[in-house]
Amino acid sequence: MIEAARLAPEQLAAISLADFAGDVREGLTKRGQKELYSKYLYDEIGSMLFEAICLLPEYGLSRAGARLLEQNSEEIISLIPGPVMVAELGSGTGRKTRWMLEALARKQNVNYYPIDISRSALDRCDSDLGRLESVSIVGFERAYLDGLLEAAARRRPGMRLLVLFLGSTIGNFDRPAGDQFLRSVRQILQRDDALLLAADLQNDEDRLLLAYDDPAGVTSAFNLNLLARVNRELGADFDLARFNHLVRYDRRERRVEMHLQSSADQIVRIPRVSLDVRFAKGETIWTESCHKYSSGELVQMSRRTGYRCEAQWVDSEWPFAQSLWIAV
Ligand SMILES: C[S@@+](CC[C@H](N)C(=O)[O-])C[C@H]1O[C@@H](n2cnc3c(N)ncnc32)[C@H](O)[C@@H]1O
Repeated sequence: MIEAARLAPEQLAAISLADFAGDVREGLTKRGQKELYSKYLYDEIGSMLFEAICLLPEYGLSRAGARLLEQNSEEIISLIPGPVMVAELGSGTGRKTRWMLEALARKQNVNYYPIDISRSALDRCDSDLGRLESVSIVGFERAYLDGLLEAAARRRPGMRLLVLFLGSTIGNFDRPAGDQFLRSVRQILQRDDALLLAADLQNDEDRLLLAYDDPAGVTSAFNLNLLARVNRELGADFDLARFNHLVRYDRRERRVEMHLQSSADQIVRIPRVSLDVRFAKGETIWTESCHKYSSGELVQMSRRTGYRCEAQWVDSEWPFAQSLWIAV
């Protein structure tokens, strides 16, 4: 069940058209590097393309995260004394979450609150996981912290909250913003609540670049769909054939960056924000960052942001960690 479904359509969306228009204007008129926020990659088409990315052989991080949950969910759950309710930030379709919910449901009835700005992903999550025995789902079509506040408000006395933040989505924040976000999550939690944080670790550079630039072009389509979305929702005339998916690794920041690069000098019109945007040949729009971590760095992050790292599991095939943090 999607909780927000009872509201009027204009109150429903976690992202209003006005917010989208404002952010597109701001991002494309920035001096220096043009930018569009990665959250806008996830409209209905983008969410489906992301699901396809997770199936790509090159995108090993998603399978690593799933493997760790398949192998260790029982142990993770055993480290959080119950009863426990579960909220998930940026759940997407919740594909990997199944392992955690099944492990918990062997001990107790489970209330699961997936939170995502993508309505279509939440619908899939509801239909796929809603059939699990002893699990009841209420999804929130909300931004992370707004959704978490709503989920936390449903806590019953004596219950712990387990927050899942999977898929290395933390890597979309730059490091200081990531710390700030984890502190904000901590403020909503109570002492001894838990956060299961998935993070992709540093890896061979070529392997990482391939993970974000697969030969079948699925990640390229995911990235270009953002321009198609601006066309669909804001009436722009981006010619997708004149932009290319570009992936870089920034060694200093330890992150993969996704950009869209203009292959010509051109002007793009965006009538609904009354904007003409000039692009020089070779200029890029920065659309996503995916920071990579070390396992020790994740332990330090927990200390800086109000948690202790209780345990960490690292995949043997792809350097990827699931860390269980307890709020202190
Ligand atoms: C990298 S995907 C991860 C999906 C899933 N957790 C997984 O591991 O496969 C990020 C998810 O976060 C959602 N998302 C992005 N920004 C968000 C925001 N500000 N608030 C809520 N959800 C957001 C996207 O719609 C998408 O489903």
